[in-house]
Amino acid sequence: MILYFSATGNSRYVANTLAKELGEQRLVDLRAYMVKDAPALTVTLSENEPLGIVFPVHSWGMPKFFADILENMHIQGYEAGKNYVYMLCTCGDDVGKLFEMWSGVMKKAGVEADVAYSIAMPNTYVLFPGFDVDNPEKRDQKLTAAPVAIHHVATQIKSRTKGDFTHHGAMAGLKSKVIHPLFIQYSTSDKGFAVDAATCIGCGKCQQACPTSNIQIVKPNPTKEGKLMPEWQGRCLNCLACYHYCPTHAIAYGTKTKGKHFYICPL
Ligand SMILES: Cc1cc2nc3c(=O)[nH]c(=O)nc-3n(C[C@H](O)[C@H](O)[C@H](O)COP(=O)(O)O)c2cc1C
Repeated sequence: MILYFSATGNSRYVANTLAKELGEQRLVDLRAYMVKDAPALTVTLSENEPLGIVFPVHSWGMPKFFADILENMHIQGYEAGKNYVYMLCTCGDDVGKLFEMWSGVMKKAGVEADVAYSIAMPNTYVLFPGFDVDNPEKRDQKLTAAPVAIHHVATQIKSRTKGDFTHHGAMAGLKSKVIHPLFIQYSTSDKGFAVDAATCIGCGKCQQACPTSNIQIVKPNPTKEGKLMPEWQGRCLNCLACYHYCPTHAIAYGTKTKGKHFYICPL
């Protein structure tokens, strides 16, 4: 069984490709569990069945709300040492001490983490100074390399290899243990989002893209009579799906998105 979460498509592509490589029939999108008051996730495993979790790294840790889903899941049929449990995360560059964090979360759910991998995919985070999506050359290099990397991970999973094979990067502890908690607490507000009324066409793509159902198309558009614009409701993980999916690029985050670019996984 593979459980996955994806905001802008990279991890969805990786989870789908991995499932094909492994001949895995049970692929579950966890997006429905990211919304407010979602029921707890229940996972039932058969004897020796592997359990995989695929998701993007957010600020060298797990995306906001995602750790809660895993921590509170009800898992049935699991036996340590028999049901092999793996994590495959997608990242722009590096993941810090994500394995430590993820295995701690799984432990709270009563599950022993066996192995972790990371795969570089095009970057989606643009709000920090100097951060932007990858240039077309780097983006295409990553997209070309991804199937090979996923094939390699699938081979390792089939042989039930154990360990942490993620790309930690420099200052991994500082990034995951200091910056990540600060990011979750102070940098995941939706208060910075604004819509350019003249550019917004009221299509609702941002609403569909938002994994936490945090956007309602309810605000009257002052420049277009009868048209409505998005309004954010306060449950944001700053995944930027709304910003990237907007077909007219009408969504900005204060001045932090000024001059920044856009990306949605094309695969
Ligand atoms: C809020 C946020 C934080 C991110 N933090 C990191 C990070 O710490 N390290 C990294 O290499 N990439 C980081 N990224 C990039 C994503 O992990 C990467 O682009 C991922 O493949 C996106 O997956 P998705 O399209 O399935 O949502 C971040 C992206 C977002 C939106």
